[in-house]
Amino acid sequence: MALRNIVVQGEEILTKRAKEVKEINEHVCMILDDMLETMRAENGIGIAAPQVGVLRRMFIVELEDQVYELINPEIIETSGSQCEYEGCLSVPGLIGRVERPQYVKIAGQNRQGQRVEYEGTELLAVAFCHEYEHLDGILYIDKATDICETEEEETEE
Ligand code: CO
Repeated sequence: MALRNIVVQGEEILTKRAKEVKEINEHVCMILDDMLETMRAENGIGIAAPQVGVLRRMFIVELEDQVYELINPEIIETSGSQCEYEGCLSVPGLIGRVERPQYVKIAGQNRQGQRVEYEGTELLAVAFCHEYEHLDGILYIDKATDICETEEEETEE
């Protein structure tokens, strides 16, 4: 495993639509391993492939000791709404509030190519939506309100 550089806001890759992962091979698994290591080193709770310079549809969320790895994810159900502060490893030093669903059901593939489905509420729902939007070239900061600077180490996605 290796740490990768996090791409920060202003770089074009973060604004592009990521491409489908056609074949889940060793290379893809290696990128996922690196993403997890990089996310943990940066105290993040989520990371999407474009954030390490890979324009492919996959992301990782880690919350409460559970790792959610999703390849070619699709959000299949949402309900309710919440508006909480969130941050992003690609937008260091800032947090802002974004309206998100309170509940999200997301499906995708795992490393073995099997279909997996996860449900999330509250912060997990925020993280799924935030990471999913990275795959469509959307940064939370583009739609956030109450953007403010953060001095402390926050959990970032
Ligand atoms: Co982010």
